[in-house]
Amino acid sequence: MTRNGHPPAPAAFQEMWRDLSPVGRHPGSGGYRRFAWTAADSDCRSWFREQAEARGLAYEVDRNGNQWAWLGDPAAGDAVVTGSHLDSVPDGGAFDGPLGVVSAFAALDELRGRGVEFGKPLGIVNFGDEEGARFGLACVGSRLTAGRLGIAEAHRLTDADGITLPQAMEAAGYDPDAIGADPERLSRIGAFVELHVEQGRALDLNGDRVGIASAIWPHGRWRFDFRGQANHAGTTRLGDRRDPMLSYAETVLAARREARLAGAVATFGKIAVEPNGVNAIPSLVRGWLDSRAADQTTLDAMVTGIEEAAHDFAAEHGVELDVVRESFTPVVEFDHALRDELARILGKEAGLKVPVLGTGAGHDAGILSGTVPTAMLFVRNPTGISHSPAEYAAEDDCVAGVTALADVLEGLARR
Ligand code: GLV
Ligand code: MN
Ligand code: MN
Repeated sequence: MTRNGHPPAPAAFQEMWRDLSPVGRHPGSGGYRRFAWTAADSDCRSWFREQAEARGLAYEVDRNGNQWAWLGDPAAGDAVVTGSHLDSVPDGGAFDGPLGVVSAFAALDELRGRGVEFGKPLGIVNFGDEEGARFGLACVGSRLTAGRLGIAEAHRLTDADGITLPQAMEAAGYDPDAIGADPERLSRIGAFVELHVEQGRALDLNGDRVGIASAIWPHGRWRFDFRGQANHAGTTRLGDRRDPMLSYAETVLAARREARLAGAVATFGKIAVEPNGVNAIPSLVRGWLDSRAADQTTLDAMVTGIEEAAHDFAAEHGVELDVVRESFTPVVEFDHALRDELARILGKEAGLKVPVLGTGAGHDAGILSGTVPTAMLFVRNPTGISHSPAEYAAEDDCVAGVTALADVLEGLARR
């Protein structure tokens, strides 16, 4: 069935989901490896462009490589923008990011089907490198655009193979010298609404399909370099060793303890070992700590506690330790007026029960929120699992998300 020549949202949604689902999926793990400026990322970008062009939207890529699709002229200002990201964490799920982009196109189809006339420009965006899986810093595309990442700092970002961000951008056909803050572009946006799969079970536990975000916890990434002495695993007496793996392991346990005491979270999820030989005591163990808490004071105290414990363990084992904060995102409190407007549209007009939830996950919406009125919609995730191939949302909940997003866009942009 089509309305006004446009397929209804569920069919459009299914078709886009089917097209996108093989892109960057690893056959062994079943998870996604859509890292910034790789072939999989380029395929995702081609998909976005095709979707924009198939709908007759004006397509553009900004100086930081973010993709935009426009209905109406963004220069008119007060634009309503929706979207998310298409990149993934290593072996990520299908929904974190893509659900927001696919739902954005499906919501536009839905609104065209409803015959809505827009009084404001409507934009759909795919922000580049949200997860920071390759270069270690999350939300590079939105950070650059919002002026929250300097050009020199961005140019220094390097992946595990020693390829710099400028080299990777150039290899993918983009100009790394063009990157930088884009206040003019952001000044044209009156509201940004990012739809995202929930990365927890709050909606499921309450029996709700869709929720509205209240805030994002402050969070950051710290690199711990433990340096000891490489030596023979078979011949070096225990007392003679300077083994950085021991201080690293004790620090992992300390992080867990500090997080439990603080009512927060702390995770060592990535590690690099040199020389990385089974029969060699390591010379270097580099671990990355991801720490998040509901407020800044708690986060600072927790990270200080972990660092102090790590220094004690390092001293005990004759190991040197350097700790570097690689990134930090302060607490985000989403725009109250926009949040209330979403609640009004979904609650009063669409008759939905929509809880307001905080989250420990970072998002481009959080980065933009300092500059642009920003809001988020969450779609139920029945297991809460995310950043894993098991991440999931049921199709009827996805469709409920599309409908809610369409209602919100209609409420914000209708003539
Ligand atoms: C992004 O998903 C993050 O919260 O790290
Ligand atoms: Mn994510
Ligand atoms: Mn995401």
